[in-house]
Amino acid sequence: MNHPTPAVTPYELLGGETAIRALVKRFYALMDTLPEAYGVRKLHPRDLSGSEEKLFMFLSGWLGGPQLFVEKFGHPRLRQRHLPFSIGIAERDQWMLCMRQALAGQNMDDGLRQDLDRKLADLADFMRNKAENGAENGPPGRG
Ligand code: HEM
Repeated sequence: MNHPTPAVTPYELLGGETAIRALVKRFYALMDTLPEAYGVRKLHPRDLSGSEEKLFMFLSGWLGGPQLFVEKFGHPRLRQRHLPFSIGIAERDQWMLCMRQALAGQNMDDGLRQDLDRKLADLADFMRNKAENGAENGPPGRG
């Protein structure tokens, strides 16, 4: 008998669309209110509903669910889409502060939480495009 175990995606483990919408809503509510996140907040439009919808669509596909962002906007080219904004260590850390707190409010097992935390932190680090003194990596092509 051959019963391959279907791969359970992080999308499903988290609780699908409802849970991911709740995560993203919480993430931007935190960004909008935490004084420590003001630096990253002020890069965003005054109305965060568009940002919320785009991050939801991106995370849906990134977590193994429907590829909503790709279907609507094409390849994410996430780093390139962030080039208009000056993102350094402070902005990266503020983004992750909000994301960590949002993840903390979601029900999931610790292994998944750690895995998501690490992968999102890597992705946030990859968005950095501002040269900084003593930075571990500057923009691509600058060593
Ligand atoms: C590292 C710090 C980051 C900063 C400062 C930042 C900032 C921004 C800003 C200012 C926008 C434009 C807002 C808008 O379109 O309404 C944006 C768009 C977006 N961000 Fe980020 N972001 C960061 C990291 C990330 C990460 C790690 C992800 C993915 C997990 C992400 C996903 C997106 C998506 C999907 C969009 C929409 C792109 C588009 O306009 O097509 N961002 N981000």
